[in-house]
Amino acid sequence: MGAAKGTAFAARLRAATRACHDEVDTLFGRFDLSDRSSYARFLTAHAAALVPVEDWVGATRLMPDWRGRKEALWADLAALGRSLPHFEPLDWPRHEAARWGAFYVLEGSRLGGAMLSRAVPEDLPRAYLSSVHAPGAWRGFLAALDEHAQAGGPDWEAAAIASAGRVFALYAQAARLAGAR
Ligand code: HEM
Repeated sequence: MGAAKGTAFAARLRAATRACHDEVDTLFGRFDLSDRSSYARFLTAHAAALVPVEDWVGATRLMPDWRGRKEALWADLAALGRSLPHFEPLDWPRHEAARWGAFYVLEGSRLGGAMLSRAVPEDLPRAYLSSVHAPGAWRGFLAALDEHAQAGGPDWEAAAIASAGRVFALYAQAARLAGAR
């Protein structure tokens, strides 16, 4: 990540959610991505968190060029003979700070993808894990996040951090429901 870590609010948000990240990293690390069935459960767990959060964030209103990963997950699961489960929409209060905090978790979760996709055998689909950032996109995201945080002030920051924590918890819950311990 190099210099991208140096940005102001982004660095605080990263520090505040480090333990949450360690938890999801550990839980998702329980799946064996080289095994078709375990990999399908890994993708189903990601879908259970990502699909409702993407819908809730409505990221194209925050960043017009943004592209989500719902379709990629859908395609991988379909190729594995699984369908996307039905998701209830999130009823979390939707305000700007909360949306940015959740957006950070969604976008950050692309960062481990390149590494993880190397564990997936050639004959399994990996549209989702291959959906990594374009060069410079993560840095651009963190700059936009910082700009909004600066305009929003301490309450904005606190709301964004709380929201990021909720999203991490949703991923952790989804991993556990899919069998990770
Ligand atoms: C097996 C699972 C995971 C692995 C191995 C992993 C790995 C990584 C790695 C290597 C980075 C740093 C990338 C870099 O420095 O360029 C990273 C960052 C990040 N990951 Fe994960 N990750 C995993 C799961 C997740 C999940 C499920 C989420 C969210 C739901 C997530 C959210 C984030 C965020 C927000 C960052 C950015 C941290 C920052 O601000 O620098 N990760 N992850």
